[in-house]
Amino acid sequence: MINMETLTQILPSFDVEAIRRSFPVLSRMVNNKTLVYLDNAATSQKPAAVIDAISKYYSHYNANIHRGIHTLAEEATLAYEATRVAVQQFIGAAFSEEIIFTRGTTEGINLVAYTWGRKNIHEGDEIIISGMEHHSNIVPWQILCEEKGALLKVVPVNDKGEISVDEFKILLSSKTKLVSIVHVSNALGTVNPVEEMITLAHEKGAIVLIDGAQSSVHLDIDVQKMDCDFFAFSAHKLYGPTGIGVLYGKKEILENMPVFMGGGEMIREVTFEGSTYNELPYKFEAGTPNIADTIAFKAALEFVQNIGKDLARNHEKELVEYATAQLEMIPGLKIIGSSENKVSLISFIIENIHPQDVGVLLDNQGIAVRTGHHCAQPLMKRFGIPGTIRASFAIYNTREEVDVFIEGLKKAIKMLS
Ligand SMILES: Cc1ncc(COP(=O)(O)O)c(C=O)c1O
Repeated sequence: MINMETLTQILPSFDVEAIRRSFPVLSRMVNNKTLVYLDNAATSQKPAAVIDAISKYYSHYNANIHRGIHTLAEEATLAYEATRVAVQQFIGAAFSEEIIFTRGTTEGINLVAYTWGRKNIHEGDEIIISGMEHHSNIVPWQILCEEKGALLKVVPVNDKGEISVDEFKILLSSKTKLVSIVHVSNALGTVNPVEEMITLAHEKGAIVLIDGAQSSVHLDIDVQKMDCDFFAFSAHKLYGPTGIGVLYGKKEILENMPVFMGGGEMIREVTFEGSTYNELPYKFEAGTPNIADTIAFKAALEFVQNIGKDLARNHEKELVEYATAQLEMIPGLKIIGSSENKVSLISFIIENIHPQDVGVLLDNQGIAVRTGHHCAQPLMKRFGIPGTIRASFAIYNTREEVDVFIEGLKKAIKMLS
């Protein structure tokens, strides 16, 4: 097994085989075939450095953080807070207290809806999302709008799977209080023009949340340059553990937001008459957090940074182009989402064949893809389809794996025709 130090020495000359060796799961067999893992948009695999960091925490310094004065508590607190600083640097935030640890993107969006939203959204106000949102960036706003008598407006998606800035401009008005847009679509791969949208939204006085669940691994994120007010993402799509994510928020906005969950850690003083609350970021982190996974998240960020996002992007782009060219030659196959500005995944349907049947037959050959609506049912409805087959690529995938996938797919189609 290759460790992080060795890997750093091998790189920066991009060596996919060296990278693969740092992911233990990639050598396993599935249905007597070597695993070909193309479900990275759902969750990526974890390098040994991340797995080791979790194990090291539990075997060397497991302790609750922030409250203890003993050595283990201090070590755990330092490691936990080091991840906050690493995240701050990773996304270019101005202050480490702007980094709120959550369980993931879903919790981050809900935190904004339940706190900022409850305080700032009133009857007749409008919230704008797009037609390609993940359910986690639809449902919290629907709940809020219903409760407040506000209106949810949706920027339409064109046939290429893009949202138009002109359509967005038409929906924007002085009634718009919040815009919540996905940076990269998990179902199509489309990269949205968020910078332009943020500028336009700010001109109307609206706050902007960017769902960075899919973008944080592929794109260079600079929240200050982007000027978004909130940015939510999950570690598990970034080679990190599940159950840990981040909500970035501009300090002045977070400071003026009501608290989220009540409990330990988020308070300054509690009496039976009332409570006062802790400062940022702790006022949003009630209870014992996910310490082990937060600590290991730092190893994931280091892994991504050591490889370099530009090298990773080039590698994944090559794989997508190589796969797309071959998929396009398969009769009856249609790619959903053909924007020129697209990352790392291919969604497609095959005439007269249900995506799930293809998924099962690919799994029989050790090939993992995702099939279904990808938590984007309104988007599937827009294209008049029940779902797609989605192959999503990561840093460790290879051209040989694309060949296995294409051959496996052809075999599946033959069996189902
Ligand atoms: C675009 C997008 N937004 C939000 C989410 C939700 O992320 P999580 O389940 O990690 O909270 C996902 C997960 O697939 C996603 O792809």
